[in-house]
Amino acid sequence: MNKSSRAITSFWLMMSFFILSEAEPMKTQLSPDFYRTTCPDLWTIVRREVLNAMEDEIRMAASLLRLHFHDCFVNGCDGSILLDGDEESEKFATPNKNSARGFEVIDRIKSSLESSCSGVVSCADILAIVARDSVFLSGGPFWYVQLGRRDGLVSNKTLANLAIPSPFDTLDNITSKFDNVGLNLKDVVTLSGAHTIGRARCTFFSNRLFNFSGTEEPDNTLESEMLFDLQNLCLQDEDGNATTVLDSNSFDQFDSNYFKNLLNGKGLLSSDQILFSSDEEVTSTTKQLVQFYSENEREFFMEFAYAMIKMGNISPLIGSEGEIRNDCRVINS
Ligand code: HEM
Ligand SMILES: *[C@@H]1O[C@H](CO)[C@@H](O)[C@H](O)[C@H]1NC(C)=O
Ligand SMILES: *[C@@H]1O[C@H](CO)[C@@H](O)[C@H](O)[C@H]1NC(C)=O
Ligand SMILES: *[C@@H]1O[C@H](CO)[C@@H](O)[C@H](O)[C@H]1NC(C)=O
Ligand SMILES: *[C@@H]1O[C@H](CO)[C@@H](O)[C@H](O)[C@H]1NC(C)=O
Repeated sequence: MNKSSRAITSFWLMMSFFILSEAEPMKTQLSPDFYRTTCPDLWTIVRREVLNAMEDEIRMAASLLRLHFHDCFVNGCDGSILLDGDEESEKFATPNKNSARGFEVIDRIKSSLESSCSGVVSCADILAIVARDSVFLSGGPFWYVQLGRRDGLVSNKTLANLAIPSPFDTLDNITSKFDNVGLNLKDVVTLSGAHTIGRARCTFFSNRLFNFSGTEEPDNTLESEMLFDLQNLCLQDEDGNATTVLDSNSFDQFDSNYFKNLLNGKGLLSSDQILFSSDEEVTSTTKQLVQFYSENEREFFMEFAYAMIKMGNISPLIGSEGEIRNDCRVINS
């Protein structure tokens, strides 16, 4: 294919995904200016704390980005994941337990904000800004964060277990979980690109290494050197607590290497590699977008920013719904 026909193909590929995503109305009353007069130092305070946290540990950017995702998929972006509680709270759901992290960073931001503009900024909005800053400070795109969400009053472990996609799901399963919150197939591929930063524990991928789906063989879509390394990492690790990077090319840089990896069988989680390699019908569509993003980082960045805003718009509490929590870990009494 020559350069211009490739560009034309890409153009039509993107158009078909646009048409897929055009159906949803952007109904929301959030706005980037929401705290302009009530908390003018908001952006500076959050940026400073995210930078500090990344200086201590570069991975924290990834952990913070993931918190916003896990918040938004459960009862909307309402800060529910931040609530401490008994064993029935979201923190104890399978995708979060021993896995979701960064809560102390959110605490520090919240208390800084309380000193500067008490009782004004919701914990749900903090998560949205922190997610953007984490991406941007890792070398990824910038976008204007929509604000004005309020904090929810319930944390529901059962719902978190149902709503948050699992790395063991089929692509159809993942797609239907995205669909449940108003996100489409293109969003599945685009937002999965978040796995360009951060780490995962053996417990979430060791099923691929020895006896995949009862075949007594490893997952044959996994590249052989990577398979060997992962077997070594996880074999001795009975707790499944050992971790490795999600993007073996550039684990601390937000870039399009995640998609390049998928072309080479180097997706870490099954839910990553199936975007390119599964024999599900829907993969014939996602595969093309993976290929496209692997060659077009700028398009990936633009679409990622757009999809993050869309994810941040999932069922926000607005107006007088919910509350502005004083402490992100507990509802106001
Ligand atoms: C498409 C379905 C998805 C599945 C099945 C999935 C699953 C996972 C799993 C199993 C981990 C490793 C957790 C651990 O080992 O403790 C992980 C990490 C991560 N996920 Fe996802 N994820 C998905 C989508 C997303 C989305 C939409 C985002 C954000 C927009 C995201 C951001 C992250 C980040 C940044 C990490 C690394 C976290 C860290 O290092 O602390 N993921 N994901
Ligand atoms: C939690 O979510 C489940 C599943 O959607 C639902 O059946 C249950 O009523 C919810 N519980 C609360 C307390 O909202
Ligand atoms: C996954 O999809 C299959 C087939 O569509 C369905 O039978 C199954 O219940 C789904 N599982 C989950 C966890 O959604
Ligand atoms: C592989 O998995 C299958 C199904 O889960 C199981 O029946 C079989 O015993 C396993 N094989 C080994 C060697 O563990
Ligand atoms: C795995 O790590 C978590 C903390 O991240 C810890 O609570 C748990 O006990 C560890 N698992 C085992 C079996 O040691």
